[in-house]
Amino acid sequence: MTETAEGKGGEGRSVGAPGGTARRLPGEAGSLQEWLEADRGDRPAEEVLGWAIQAFRPRIALASSFGVEDVVLIDMWSRRQGDVRVFSLDTGRLPEETYEVMDRIRERYGIAIATYFPETAAVEALERERGFYSFRRSVEERKHCCGIRKVVPLGRALAGLDAWVTGLRREQAETRSALTQVERDPAHGGMIKVNPLADWSTEQVWQYVRAHDVPYNRLHDRGYPSIGCAPCTRAILPGEDLRAGRWWWERPQTKECGLHLTPREGA
Ligand code: ADX
Ligand code: SF4
Repeated sequence: MTETAEGKGGEGRSVGAPGGTARRLPGEAGSLQEWLEADRGDRPAEEVLGWAIQAFRPRIALASSFGVEDVVLIDMWSRRQGDVRVFSLDTGRLPEETYEVMDRIRERYGIAIATYFPETAAVEALERERGFYSFRRSVEERKHCCGIRKVVPLGRALAGLDAWVTGLRREQAETRSALTQVERDPAHGGMIKVNPLADWSTEQVWQYVRAHDVPYNRLHDRGYPSIGCAPCTRAILPGEDLRAGRWWWERPQTKECGLHLTPREGA
């Protein structure tokens, strides 16, 4: 039996349906509708995450690229509740340092990391027909690669969940400036997306890491504030935008890989 919004054993609810918005949650709660209201203002990250776990467990998971925000959330979740559910999209082109931190996190928290790979035939066709660096040729080619290696596997990872948690922050990019802590995700059937760190600054994230001695990706110490696939990520120079090292050959406005569409884009 699982404890849910309605009490024990209330699995199978559909949060995407209009009827899913009226549930009142125990403890630090309020109804889902209240959490979705943008004018509610930001709440402490621990409170947001705690509410989401309590409301949606076991049909909730953290999407982790093992960047610094995601390891903070793993630590925060583990302090709330032992059964941390984490999935990661293993694109096949991740930096070695990312696999290293994945293993350190696995051991430190004793958690299984559910990896999702792209479809074999799709990657084979991509490489055979377009080569190994097709993403450098145009935004369309880049989105094609991200589609195969990230977006399609994300769809599989989210199937069966009611909510997903991300490490997105407003400060990261222009395209993320309107982010709210709890939102509906129109790109994934209106399921709930929880961004507990939406209002956190980079400094706050690192303070948390230091305070709790959280394992983190070594690339962060080498000038990489944001880490994705190896061929599409590089270090930034002092003063550069946080995501300047991601797809650095593109304009800032195109720098989303399709995992995170705004309501306008997803509509
Ligand atoms: S991206 O869209 O440009 O790749 P970014 O690297 O900023 O996203 O990460 C933002 C959030 O998206 C992360 O905190 C994490 O929740 C999720 N995410 C990004 N990449 C992955 C991945 N490979 N696997 C799982 N989640 C990911
Ligand atoms: Fe492909 Fe680069 Fe997107 Fe990774 S980040 S999926 S290598 S285009």
